[in-house]
Amino acid sequence: MSTKKSLVVVANRLPVHRVSSRGQRARWETSPGGLVAALTPILKGRSGSWVGWAGTAGGAPRRFTHQGIALHPIGLSRQLVEGFYERFSNRTLWPLYHDVVRRPEFHRGWWKDYREANTRFAEMTAKVAPRRATVWVHDYQLQLVPQLLRTLRPDLRIGYFLHIPFPPLELLAQLPWRRELMEGLLGADLIGLQTKDDARNMRRAAVRLGGAHGRGEDLAVGERRVRVAAYPISIDVASFETLADTPVVLAKSFAFRRRLGLDRQVILGIDRLDYTKGIDTRLRAYEELLASGRVDPARAVFVQVAVPSRERVEEYAEIREEVEGWVGRINGRFSTVGLTTVHYLRRSLNPEDLVALYRAADVMVVTPYRDGMNLVAKEYVASRTDNTGALVLSEFAGAARSLTAALQVNPHDIDGMEDTIHRAMHLTVEEQRQRMRSLRRVVRRHNVHDWANRFLGDLTG
Ligand code: G6P
Repeated sequence: MSTKKSLVVVANRLPVHRVSSRGQRARWETSPGGLVAALTPILKGRSGSWVGWAGTAGGAPRRFTHQGIALHPIGLSRQLVEGFYERFSNRTLWPLYHDVVRRPEFHRGWWKDYREANTRFAEMTAKVAPRRATVWVHDYQLQLVPQLLRTLRPDLRIGYFLHIPFPPLELLAQLPWRRELMEGLLGADLIGLQTKDDARNMRRAAVRLGGAHGRGEDLAVGERRVRVAAYPISIDVASFETLADTPVVLAKSFAFRRRLGLDRQVILGIDRLDYTKGIDTRLRAYEELLASGRVDPARAVFVQVAVPSRERVEEYAEIREEVEGWVGRINGRFSTVGLTTVHYLRRSLNPEDLVALYRAADVMVVTPYRDGMNLVAKEYVASRTDNTGALVLSEFAGAARSLTAALQVNPHDIDGMEDTIHRAMHLTVEEQRQRMRSLRRVVRRHNVHDWANRFLGDLTG
C-alpha cells in the first residue's frame, strides 16, 4: 500500500466543533467518536486534510490547522442547511435507508439543495486535494460527491464509505432521483458498506439503476472498475479496555451502583435520541415486565441515556416527546419515594461517565429497528473487562452479524423483547462469562484502526 500519497477526508462534519465557555474566547475542540479517533493518526502521517461543514449556518471560517490536520470548512446558508441537511439527508434519506420506520418525504426543492451542497463539497475537495491524492468520502449526506469529484479531478483515487444501512432495491426504488444517486456513488473506485447484506443491496442497485455490470464484488462501470464490499466499522477497543480499568472509572462505577441501589439490577440503554433506536418499544417492554410482576421495581432500575440529536427535525422532536411520555408514565406508576424506576438523562456523557455506566450495567439493551452497525454494543462489550454482564441486541443492527453470542431480539416483537430482557436479567454468572468472553474475542479481533487501514489499503492497493 502506498502510504505516502496524501489523504483528504470528506465528511458532512469537520472533526472539530466550536466550544465557548463564559468569559473565554471560543475555541475548536476535537469531536468525540471513533471515526475521528481512527482517522486523525492516519491523516497526520499523510499530510492530510479534511473537508467538512462547521456545523452552523452561515459563512465558513477560513481554512485552519488543528492537531496537524488542515481543515477546510464548507459554508452553508440557513436555506441549504435546511434543504440539504435537515430535510433531504434526514427526512428523505435517513428514514428511507432505515427500513422506512418513518415515512420518507420526497420534495424536488430538497433534492436541489442536496445536489447544490454536494457540489460545494466536491468543488472544495477538487480545489484542495494534491495531485493524485487519495480521497475518502463519508456517509449518506455526500452520495453525489464521488462522481462530481471525478469529473472535476480524474487524477484522484476516490473511496466512499456508507455508515448507515443501504436499503434493498424495493425500497430505494421509491426515490425519484435513484438513478442520479447511484451514478453519484459509482464515481468512487471503492465503495465500503457495513455488512455483506448492505453490499449486496448496493451492487444490485448499481446494476439495475446505475448502469454497472458484473456479479461479484468488482463491478464494471463503463471503462472503470468499482469495488463494492463490506468493511464493518469497529471502535478503539484498547482505549475502552484501558479506561474501564482505571481507578477513576472503577470508583465512578461503584458510586453509580451505590446511588442506584446496591441490591438493584441495573439495565442500561444509551442511544442518540433517534426514532430508529427503538427506545420507545424497549420502555414499553420494560413497563409490561413491571406490570406483570416479572420484574420488581424495588430490585431493578432502568437507566436510559438519550443523546440530543437533530432537534430541528420534526420527527426527532416527536420521538423525544414519546420517550419522555413513556418515562413519565412508568415512573408515575412504579416509582416510590427515593426509588426511581427509570432514570432518564438527555445529554451526552464524558468518556469516564460513559464507561463507568457500562461497567455498572448488568444488562445493556441495544434494540434499534435498524442500525448500520451500532457501536454502543461494541463499546459495552469492550468495557466489560471482568467478562460479566449481558447484552440484549437487535437482530437489525449491523453489529448482530458478528456479535452472535449476544441475546438477540426482534425489536418489533414486544413479547420476545420482554422474555429476552427477563432472561438477560437471570443469566447465571457462568453463562454471562461464557457469552461475554466470546463477544470480547470478536470485538478485540479488529478495531477501528484495522478498519481504516483495510479500507485505505484496498483503495490505494
Ligand atoms: C450517524 C451518521 C453520521 C452522523 C451522526 C450524528 O452516526 O451516520 O453521519 O454524523 O449520526 O448525526 P448528525 O446529524 O448530528 O451529524
